[in-house]
Amino acid sequence: MQTIEVKTKSHPSTVYCGKGAVKQLDHILDGKDVFVVTDKNVYGLYKGFIAENFGGAPVCVLPAGERHKNRTSLFMILDKMLDARVRRNGTLVALGGGVVGDMAGLAASLYMRGVHAVQIPTTLLAQVDSSVGGKTAIDHRGVKNVIGTFYQPEYVVCDPMFLSTLPKRELKCGLGEIVKTGALDAEILDKLERNAERLFDLAFLEEITADCVRFKAGVVEKDECERSGLRKCLNMGHTTGHALELFYGRRSHGEYVLIGMLFESYIAEKLDICAHDHAEELRALIGRVLKRVPHFKNIADAARAALYDKKNQGKNEISLILPAKRGEFAELRLTDEKYVGYIEEIAGGII
Ligand code: NAD
Ligand code: GLY
Repeated sequence: MQTIEVKTKSHPSTVYCGKGAVKQLDHILDGKDVFVVTDKNVYGLYKGFIAENFGGAPVCVLPAGERHKNRTSLFMILDKMLDARVRRNGTLVALGGGVVGDMAGLAASLYMRGVHAVQIPTTLLAQVDSSVGGKTAIDHRGVKNVIGTFYQPEYVVCDPMFLSTLPKRELKCGLGEIVKTGALDAEILDKLERNAERLFDLAFLEEITADCVRFKAGVVEKDECERSGLRKCLNMGHTTGHALELFYGRRSHGEYVLIGMLFESYIAEKLDICAHDHAEELRALIGRVLKRVPHFKNIADAARAALYDKKNQGKNEISLILPAKRGEFAELRLTDEKYVGYIEEIAGGII
């Protein structure tokens, strides 16, 4: 197990990463007034774990899935915290994937203006990305993550034991964020390429999780609240990914990140921001995870949903985080018409 410190200005976090990380819960939660948030699927699978580790703590079980990442679920958590008389020095434990983690993190930041938060990510995506760095959110009126806060958890406990119950599709989803991290860090990219045959292998995923967490910790320490622009790099592929996710739904967040990266790698290459060979190596990795890209009907309408992206600054301008040289990124701003034109053209060519 590795211990990774995230030294953010607002509040540092300690991430325990690897086999046996859950044993740290003994000292993390010792003497704490605990309130647990999870979802129905995780509760069904880990009832025994919850009873063993959280004793008689109140448990709020949310409906599972992105479509429940909304104000109804957020207020369900807040109401149950009030019912359970959680105090300001209470500790909210988020046990679940990124959906639970984002909503529970938001509730922890709002309830009595902030209680202690511990993230126990149970999906690969949440372990490599969403549980670290303090972004919390719900979706609202069809816009992803539009209501949220930056609120660092005190501890993050990433234990690979949770991955053993995860369907392959969810591993694929986590691999979306892993490949994204590879596009931002040449050493991680090299490791992914060396292990291209083992991408779904749990032993490999355990190793790469710690690398991704360490990379993300470094970015978040330098730009906790996405002010200097560095943290934006973590949104590579997300402008197009979020737009398609918003419009078409059904697939998981990580799959849309991969599809977004695929489209955006062509834009980067076309505009000479990324060399052909590097764009191709990224597309080869994406292809290994994704296998096939679905056919999207009315893709121009879907692409226009990118106008809601939080990175945009001008009214009709769309911001993209593109791969540049190996391990480097570039931000590009395009008018919506130009961006939609590129997406239509690429969709016509690759699908
Ligand atoms: P999720 O939380 O919906 O989990 C996926 C599915 O797996 C759910 O059905 C869940 O019930 C189930 N599940 C969870 N753990 C399981 C386990 N151990 N075994 C079997 N099933 C399990 O989705 P996700 O992919 O974890 O997270 C996606 C969310 O994360 C999106 O809302 C996205 O916006 C958010 N996100 C946030 C950040 C951030 O920095 N805060 C970063 C990336 C993504
Ligand atoms: N996943 C994007 C971020 O944490 O900033």
